[in-house]
Amino acid sequence: MRTTDPEVSDVILDIDPQTMTRRPVSKQAAIAAFLASGNHSAARVVQRIPERDGALDPDYVDRLLVRVHTEMQWLAEEFQHGRRLRELIGPMLRVLRERRPPPYRVVDVGCGTGFAIRWLAARGDFGPDVELIGADFNPELIAEARRLASAENLPCRFVLADAFRLPEPGHIFVTTGVVHHFRGDALRSFFAQHEQPESQAFFHFDFQPGPLAPIGSRFWHWLRMRTALARHDGVLSAVRAYTASELTSAARAGTSNFLIGMYGQKIWSTPLPRVFHTLVGFRPELREPFLHALGVRAGRMGELR
Ligand SMILES: C[S@@+](CC[C@H](N)C(=O)[O-])C[C@H]1O[C@@H](n2cnc3c(N)ncnc32)[C@H](O)[C@@H]1O
Repeated sequence: MRTTDPEVSDVILDIDPQTMTRRPVSKQAAIAAFLASGNHSAARVVQRIPERDGALDPDYVDRLLVRVHTEMQWLAEEFQHGRRLRELIGPMLRVLRERRPPPYRVVDVGCGTGFAIRWLAARGDFGPDVELIGADFNPELIAEARRLASAENLPCRFVLADAFRLPEPGHIFVTTGVVHHFRGDALRSFFAQHEQPESQAFFHFDFQPGPLAPIGSRFWHWLRMRTALARHDGVLSAVRAYTASELTSAARAGTSNFLIGMYGQKIWSTPLPRVFHTLVGFRPELREPFLHALGVRAGRMGELR
């Protein structure tokens, strides 16, 4: 697997982000592309998907992607991802409350089946002045996120939309496992979209690369994932994960009104890397109050510039 290989989930579903319409995906073309790049395991995953009218069966693809995101939730639960989100969003909300009137909108960009937002709605304890919103281009994932949120009567909402073009824009943007999907110039463009008058901060969580990351990822995906697609894409995600300097360089190139740094790269004060690291960005005037609000955890914040 190479960083240039696409993930199967990025290939089997094609939604035009402008019109939100779905385009058919040719099974034979997808298999041929994976074989041409030498990724035989990805070709095998696509081979198992049934065909309808010359294209991958859209209903099967929808069910498969919901299943894969459910398995991703198992991993997020295993790694207590909700607590990590709350660790950064909570202090930032306290800072924003002192500076601007409510409401405060937290937007999960590419929310999938909404684990992050549902967890925060259930256990974030942020208060009624905070709106928790998940946005995704995939209608089936949004439908599943809504179903799960309504089953627990959670105070959050999920929208089928571009997270950066909401009628009521976000103040804090977050992602989980999303940034490595943007390659090359697309990564810089992704960060450039945070330059909106209302946005105050962003926290992007993704795998931290390293010599042991693909082995660790293979182990955890074998242990916790069941579908071939989830296992394939999970391991490839670790291969495609960006280093801290790649992320901070792209974020600094794409934005000019945010301080940027990495958070939580090491386990406590040991040299051991965490599975996830977090790209942090916020308006420069929030620096001192945010570091103060982090308390002892301010030591986990790397250089900000
Ligand atoms: C890897 S999946 C998301 C995984 C999810 N965060 C999780 O932890 O389960 C990436 C998703 O990002 C969505 N996406 C990418 N850019 C987006 C944007 N600007 N607005 C909304 N959704 C976006 C895609 O539709 C895709 O479903």
